[in-house]
Amino acid sequence: MSHGFLGNDASLMLDVVVCALVLLVPLLAYSVIVVKFQRNHELHKRLQMLLAGILLVAVTAFEIDMRLHGGWRNIVNKDPAHPRRSQAELENSALLLKTHLVFAISTPFLWAATIALALRRFPDPPVPGPHSDLHKALGWASAADLALTSFTGLWFYYATFVGG
Ligand code: HEM
Repeated sequence: MSHGFLGNDASLMLDVVVCALVLLVPLLAYSVIVVKFQRNHELHKRLQMLLAGILLVAVTAFEIDMRLHGGWRNIVNKDPAHPRRSQAELENSALLLKTHLVFAISTPFLWAATIALALRRFPDPPVPGPHSDLHKALGWASAADLALTSFTGLWFYYATFVGG
């Protein structure tokens, strides 16, 4: 269980989070296509709420996992006598993780604001209205933030557990 299921000797929750990160971006792209080209606002709303749920579970799982293992460095070098990564490689991963955290921490706040305002200001069922301009700006910013969270998170995982 503590070794994950993707075969990279990471951890169970890290592998779950990686799968969530891979899943989120195509789902998000589909949700934007649905609203922009098919004008299916109700499906867009449902998909965005589902994505927010996946995001919340992924972030919580990651936090719990890191606390249980006492930090990602202990997951990489489980056996201190035979470390998998050198000090230089760990520093490179630490930099990638810091970059990832900029997006990973801002994304839930931006998403919460986008969803809270959308639920309050669009009618139910949702249709375009006076809130549209602000929602589109917030929506695109949230989408970009999530895509960057996913991209940098996967980069960190690859550099730390797969590559080399
Ligand atoms: C964080 C969650 C959300 C994100 C990232 C998001 C993203 C977007 C984006 C990027 C667009 C613009 C597409 C375009 O350029 O035409 C859009 C449109 C729209 N969204 Fe969302 N959305 C979110 C949540 C919601 C929710 C919860 C609702 C309903 C309560 C909603 C209702 C709408 C509507 C009605 C439009 C069409 C606006 C118009 O064409 O005037 N969205 N959304």
